[in-house]
Amino acid sequence: MFRDENIRDYNPVSTSSHYSPNQEAPPNAESIAVFKDVEKEYVIDKYKFKALKGASCKIPKGEMTFLFGPSGSGKTTFLNLLGLLDQPTAGEIYLMGEKVSDFNDNRAADFRSKNIGFIFQSFNLISVLSVLENVEFPLLHDNINRSERRERAEHYLEAVGLGELINRNIGEISGGQRQRVAIARALVTNPALVIADEPTANLDIRTSQEIVDLMTDMKSKFKTSFVICTHDETLINEGSRLIHIVDGLLQDTGGLK
Ligand SMILES: Nc1ncnc2c1ncn2[C@@H]1O[C@H](COP(=O)(O)OP(=O)(O)OP(=O)(O)O)[C@@H](O)[C@H]1O
Ligand SMILES: [Mg+2]
Repeated sequence: MFRDENIRDYNPVSTSSHYSPNQEAPPNAESIAVFKDVEKEYVIDKYKFKALKGASCKIPKGEMTFLFGPSGSGKTTFLNLLGLLDQPTAGEIYLMGEKVSDFNDNRAADFRSKNIGFIFQSFNLISVLSVLENVEFPLLHDNINRSERRERAEHYLEAVGLGELINRNIGEISGGQRQRVAIARALVTNPALVIADEPTANLDIRTSQEIVDLMTDMKSKFKTSFVICTHDETLINEGSRLIHIVDGLLQDTGGLK
């Protein structure tokens, strides 16, 4: 049977119902994503480079999972596969029980827009649009009328504490506030899974911690599963799940932090 060998509960002094490191997941633990022997090989000219070398893990549903590792270790590669932005060269990926690793581009795009929200390091906000319009943007493809779009965007902007700033332009708010806009935009479609690639890389320590706390709140409120990659171990909250990646290999983490 497929074993949960690479993903650990990050809670060294756990008294909660989380299972502790080096134990197998309880049989009833639900996974939002499952990787089975996943490899990703990039080809540059004639040279091949394996950025992911047989990754197997289960990512739990409704939890924060951190992907932690040094620069170049394969974090973005892993997230691109998880977010159906790229295809593996070997192995299988399941999302919400569906085998997504062999989806064609159209099916992948459809699945992505229905189920996955993204928060990028550079925020990827549209500078000519207001805060509110940026958050409404992912809803434009759906059959949602203007007033409902507005209501939903306002709801998520309130939730991230930006209710007062909805009519500002993106250029008129701070980096931490932009990151909150990016979080509201990722959540506005109500995705089952939110993927964040270095979401706090441009922020100071205090704002970074606030952003992670905000995502933790969102997880509790909306039951969203988060997968967040970071270099920064200070962000990893007690009770979070942790996948440690080094040189394209998923590793055990021990008592980090
Ligand atoms: N499109 C690509 N073509 C070729 N090699 C790539 C490509 N993307 C990434 N790589 C290589 O794969 C390895 C993993 O890259 P990846 O971007 O996944 O690392 P990372 O852990 O996200 O690093 P960082 O923390 O710096 O963002 C690196 O050695 C990188 O040079
Ligand atoms: Mg990266």
